[in-house]
Amino acid sequence: MLSESAEDTMRIAEEYAATLRPGDVVLLHGELGAGKTVFVKGLARGLGIGEEITSPTYAYMNDYGGVLYHYDCYRLQSGAQAEALGLCDYFYAGGVCVVEWPENIADVLPEGCREVTIRKCGETAREIETA
Ligand SMILES: Nc1ncnc2c1ncn2[C@@H]1O[C@H](COP(=O)(O)OP(=O)(O)O)[C@@H](O)[C@H]1O
Ligand SMILES: [Mg+2]
Repeated sequence: MLSESAEDTMRIAEEYAATLRPGDVVLLHGELGAGKTVFVKGLARGLGIGEEITSPTYAYMNDYGGVLYHYDCYRLQSGAQAEALGLCDYFYAGGVCVVEWPENIADVLPEGCREVTIRKCGETAREIETA
């Protein structure tokens, strides 16, 4: 799908949210500034979360009432580190998990994850691939 603005990306994410079931883990791929966190904002809107979504870069994971767990693994070095921080338990807690930079913790991700890839094609153009 082509997104031409941040609002487009949020709408795409909102529609994608309707395809998710509790317990799903969504891996979000894309370079810095691609729009992964923007996508999560739309996802949260689609899941009926009223709280504002902020980037969990320093906290690693934000918990939105057990409905949505938003991970940013940019600063994690390994799956073992995520495990040691207790971050892996939430993959099995029954909420939707969405993970930025899943590559950094690849060895501790559950089986059967959903995948979203965002590619920058211009200043505001993005190609969004969902599965
Ligand atoms: N089509 C688009 N989709 C998403 N974000 C966009 C788009 N066009 C411009 N942007 C801007 O790109 C930035 C994406 O930031 P962010 O979501 O934090 O990226 P990431 O989490 O992938 O590092 C935001 O400033 C957003 O406004
Ligand atoms: Mg981000």
